[in-house]
Amino acid sequence: MSSDTFQASKKISDEIKADLAVNPGKYIMLTGDRPTGRLHLGHYFGTIKERVKLQELGVTTRIIIADYQVITDRDTTANIADNVHNMVIDYMACGIDPEKTIIFTHSAIPALNQLMLPFLSLCTEAELMRNPTVKSEQEASGHALTGLLLTYPVHQACDILFCKGNVVPVGKDQLPHIEQTRQIARRFNDRYAPVFPEPHGLLTEAVEIPGLDGRKMSKSYGNAISLSATAEETAKLIKKSKTDSERFITFDKENRPGVSALLTTAALCTGRSEVEIAEEIGNDGSGALKKYVTEAVNEYLAPIRARREELMQDMDYVRDVLAEGNRKANEIANATLNEVREAMGMVY
Ligand code: TRP
Repeated sequence: MSSDTFQASKKISDEIKADLAVNPGKYIMLTGDRPTGRLHLGHYFGTIKERVKLQELGVTTRIIIADYQVITDRDTTANIADNVHNMVIDYMACGIDPEKTIIFTHSAIPALNQLMLPFLSLCTEAELMRNPTVKSEQEASGHALTGLLLTYPVHQACDILFCKGNVVPVGKDQLPHIEQTRQIARRFNDRYAPVFPEPHGLLTEAVEIPGLDGRKMSKSYGNAISLSATAEETAKLIKKSKTDSERFITFDKENRPGVSALLTTAALCTGRSEVEIAEEIGNDGSGALKKYVTEAVNEYLAPIRARREELMQDMDYVRDVLAEGNRKANEIANATLNEVREAMGMVY
């Protein structure tokens, strides 16, 4: 994506953010996650916190657990049910309220998936082939490009448009998909009848929280602090994180990625600045820093983990939340599919 396009998206995103607080009723948020494992601090500060904020502002909020997306770049669905249930638990523990936000799974909404056929007719092979995120995910997977991965921006457009989502909180890497979604909506509306909004990405303000080694936080790098980890597991993970041989603690992302990642983690959890924390620890070295970070993270996550524990004791409730979310999402998807049939003259 060119920096001009990014700047344009950023500008609109900022304008919408200002308007969200004034006119929350104008907005429908749709966003989601792939159930490939437990949610971690990177998810929490990157997007979950923002979703809770929008929910509390009174924006209409929907969250998709994108189970079919798991097989875009891997060839197993092992543990998927467990991952999905834990994702529902993580959301609720973080403050997503199922009375206000619909939580549902991609595979349970047939009418959503049926949008795929008309939408595919609105995209060219060249458009799909040049999507930078599809390309990089394919390279990272080490697999041949599957049809599902190639068409991933299109099924994500179905996710967003079935519920007429007009704001999509996403990271920068997802912006090309939003652009494709806008194009699909525009082409459908031009060709048939105006049914869909043209959604905008809502770029999250949060600093991207680095993993414990300074790389992006990701379960596959082993550098992620899961919301579901125990206080002891968290301490262990932080203890073995890589710092450097310099004793005096300073915040220097470029030259000291390990130390700086720890400082950012502590800063997010305490609301203090990295530099302030670094100055306080100074010559006490990385042992003291790790101790500080461990306490900050564990204290921050304590209420979330306590709610998690409670929910784990009541799996029937967790399953009910998902069943109810799926029921509501199906209602919305069926209504939209009927509009699509009408727009296309396919009512017999
Ligand atoms: N692709 C997103 C991710 O990997 C998850 C997702 C699925 C999503 N459907 C979506 C995000 C619709 C925004 C809108 O994180």
